[in-house]
Amino acid sequence: MRLEEADIAEKRVFIRADLNVPMQDGQISNDARIRASLPTISKVLEKNCAVTVLSHLGRPEEGKFDEAFSLAPIAQRLSELLSVPVILLKDIEQSKTLSKGQIGLMENVRFFAGEKGNSDELGRRMAACCDVFIMDAFGSAHRAHASTNSIAKHVEVVVPGFLMESELKALNGVVQNAKTPVVAVLGGAKVSSKLTLLERFSEISDKIFVGGGIANTFIAASGRGIGKSLYEETMLDAAKKLLSKTDIPIPKDVMVAKSFDSSATAILRLIDEVHEDEMILDIGPVTAREWSSTIEESGTIIWNGPMGVFEFDQFGEGTREIAEAIARSSAYSLAGGGDTIAAIDKYEVSDNVSYISTGGGAFMEYLEGKKLPGVDIL
Ligand code: 3PG
Repeated sequence: MRLEEADIAEKRVFIRADLNVPMQDGQISNDARIRASLPTISKVLEKNCAVTVLSHLGRPEEGKFDEAFSLAPIAQRLSELLSVPVILLKDIEQSKTLSKGQIGLMENVRFFAGEKGNSDELGRRMAACCDVFIMDAFGSAHRAHASTNSIAKHVEVVVPGFLMESELKALNGVVQNAKTPVVAVLGGAKVSSKLTLLERFSEISDKIFVGGGIANTFIAASGRGIGKSLYEETMLDAAKKLLSKTDIPIPKDVMVAKSFDSSATAILRLIDEVHEDEMILDIGPVTAREWSSTIEESGTIIWNGPMGVFEFDQFGEGTREIAEAIARSSAYSLAGGGDTIAAIDKYEVSDNVSYISTGGGAFMEYLEGKKLPGVDIL
């Protein structure tokens, strides 16, 4: 059943959202996940429900309150965005004190013992306080926790929220009926952590552009020297296998440095001319231009991970060019992952990416084809 069809008016509703936003010195540094949760919350408030929103924040030690991980700043931001008071609830049963039309935000669900162990007892306790459970936390759907999974087993009406629906529609779309050619852009440090994703992309895409440490492993697997670049020796065979069955272009030129720091000088090298004492930290301009034109002519783009160390501006040009090409392209573009979102923000291309997922691990696992415990309950 969809939220639109469920009879929720004046009911006690629990919404599991993913309000696990990046924080810096106690301040929210990016509120995109809070904003993405608003359509569902607003809809439920419109229906005059007693609304309790649940989320985790960070990774506190389970079972005890820790001010550093309190949802107090999130409650304040939520209240500003909704223009209604949001009551910070200290305990699960306190949600019963909410009247119709009121909204409470439960303290960090990871303060409650049993959350991460998917405790049935905790799930029941949560379920006993609501008539309807709305699962809207796509970003946490890869976790089998009490608030993403076991609660649902004890509530009669369980429906996906609007964000969950949009995420599944966007991700299913690129897997099931993508407009060709499909181009995947995959960056990040390690092949090992993205091997399943690489294998999946090799099935659903026509070309994979790799960046970061992942690219270094592929460059090494193609028989070229990579100096002292970060790569994974144990993944060379897997990389060779992928290179033999998938179109994974090796960059023609790269930006290198002698040290890894923010003031390191960026040197341009042809791919066969990387010195022993150098490390590859970005793709070069010729490569970025070539890849960009392929991206612009594609039908669908799936983007996860930067092309280089974009935190340092002198090694961010590759990521910037690719980000801008994705934004310029008329292809359907889907992006996800923490670093990817940081790059989208840095290069200000968010308006021209078709869909930006709020998921990090969940985005990857869903695209890998895994069953997510928080989606399974729906
Ligand atoms: C995320 O940011 O990927 C989700 O909120 C999950 O957080 P976790 O990795 O701490 O479970």
